[in-house]
Amino acid sequence: MSGDFMVRLGERIPAEQRLRLRRRIARLRRPAWLGTLRRLTPLGADWGLDRGTPVDRYYIEQFLQQERQAIRGAVLEVKDRTYTQRFGAGVERSEILDIDPANPLATIVADLASANTLPSGRFDCFVLTQTLQLIPDIHAAIAHAYRLLRPGGVLLATLPGLCQVERAYAASDYWRLTPASCQLLFAEAFGEEHIAIRSYGNMLAAIAFLTGMASEELSQRELEFVDRLFPIVVAVRAEKTGAVSADYVRES
Ligand SMILES: C[S@@+](CC[C@H](N)C(=O)[O-])C[C@H]1O[C@@H](n2cnc3c(N)ncnc32)[C@H](O)[C@@H]1O
Repeated sequence: MSGDFMVRLGERIPAEQRLRLRRRIARLRRPAWLGTLRRLTPLGADWGLDRGTPVDRYYIEQFLQQERQAIRGAVLEVKDRTYTQRFGAGVERSEILDIDPANPLATIVADLASANTLPSGRFDCFVLTQTLQLIPDIHAAIAHAYRLLRPGGVLLATLPGLCQVERAYAASDYWRLTPASCQLLFAEAFGEEHIAIRSYGNMLAAIAFLTGMASEELSQRELEFVDRLFPIVVAVRAEKTGAVSADYVRES
């Protein structure tokens, strides 16, 4: 077939049909095989725990490992003291905060978003992992986290980016955050120059995490490549310096 003939044939095909044909050729040129991923539900019901370490926990633990010098003195953590014990050094006092009065480990039962009765400036470190997404007034929660810290105290927070809704908290799992939204939220309370935001994850790690694969099923190179367009976990280190009002609580 001559080129001329092809051009004439092409002109006779309606534009919409030509576009469909072009897309089909693109698919044939770069085929994508879904394989194991061609399923409607994840491999397991618990984030990959049944196969190893969940991908988000790999990143959360990496962040806490990097920031472990801050986990010292009087330390507050939510739900239990797993990370205080695992990463802390020189911990003098460990408290556990929970809104849930049925949590037998809780030493402080309060809603972080309205913790007005808790005294200010009591903690050197607040390990606030994977909790803020469950709090409707996230601004107020961050403001109280700031207030609970002593001057020089550090908040180590992690927030979910690309991840499924948490089964146990399905009715109260409100937010997914990005590096940009964390920058906005934490700068409001701590001041822009006192926060450092890190993004963990990439497209492949996100697919593996959503599928219910464990971090052990990816190589270190695959896990540690950071693509800020695909944040699985957003981690925030925020320091209270006293430059912002110590009792800063956003007016609602
Ligand atoms: C998914 S766990 C996260 C904490 C845990 N350390 C972790 O890393 O997985 C969420 C915890 O936050 C608590 N929580 C939810 N909303 C809260 C609030 N407004 N104030 C304080 N705790 C809250 C829940 O009861 C639960 O114990």
